[in-house]
Amino acid sequence: MEDLMRKLGEAKKHIESKTGAAKIDVALVLGSGLGGLADEISDPVIIPYAEIPHFPVSTVPGHAGRLVIGKLEGKTVLCMQGRFHFYEGYEMDQIAFPVQVMRMLGIGKLILTNAAGCVNTSWNAGDLMLITDHIKLAPQSPMRGHNEEELGPRFFDMTRAYDPALKVMARRAAEKLGINLREGVYMFFSGPNFETPAEIRAARILGADAVGMSTVPEAITASHCGMKTLGFSCLTNMGAGILDQPLGHEEVLETGLRVKNQFTALIRAMVSEI
Ligand code: HPA
Repeated sequence: MEDLMRKLGEAKKHIESKTGAAKIDVALVLGSGLGGLADEISDPVIIPYAEIPHFPVSTVPGHAGRLVIGKLEGKTVLCMQGRFHFYEGYEMDQIAFPVQVMRMLGIGKLILTNAAGCVNTSWNAGDLMLITDHIKLAPQSPMRGHNEEELGPRFFDMTRAYDPALKVMARRAAEKLGINLREGVYMFFSGPNFETPAEIRAARILGADAVGMSTVPEAITASHCGMKTLGFSCLTNMGAGILDQPLGHEEVLETGLRVKNQFTALIRAMVSEI
């Protein structure tokens, strides 16, 4: 991947040709059901992924697949409306690419959002969770292979992968809105199958509060290139086997829709604090 820097440079140049190289305060990655927030951005510059050199293209229905850059809560934001998942067949380095482009654009802060299964049995579907840390036992890493020293070091710290100061802001934002924001550990599963009940029990024993199929590759990439990251999960369903019923994508979408306004308000409040 010696030409990674060239590819990143070409993607950056294309984006800047549309935005006039405006300084961007924060980047947002919108998970399932949350894409609508991008439509609330004012004076938007919209760039379909297909148009950006070397960008992967989204395949999932309901994932729009475009960057929306503009104003939200008085801040300039760059929003990924639709993200890339490992289960879609993308390689980890493809999932890393958009985050590395953000860094190239000079963006220092990243808010990641997702829909996740709830592993903590004291909580409920519909709860929102601040990601305090993560677990990834899947062997693939977005930083595997040649290391681009210009982006970050070969071996890099993950002790503050979810930025302490941003977490403080998130708690404050939730408090202001009267949201009972849970805090916990997100465990990555590569999907696309939901977990088995035994995997959910194992995740709980390992210290996970939520499980999902995204966010972690992006958070690792952001840590590598020195971006401050924050993550929120919408716990759309209880993890497999907790309730005596099968799990489906419909439930994920339904709950997402039910708490969308609250989730959106939280992200907005967070952006205004940044
Ligand atoms: N497991 C994994 N990913 C998910 C889930 C789940 O239960 N719900 C929403 N995304």
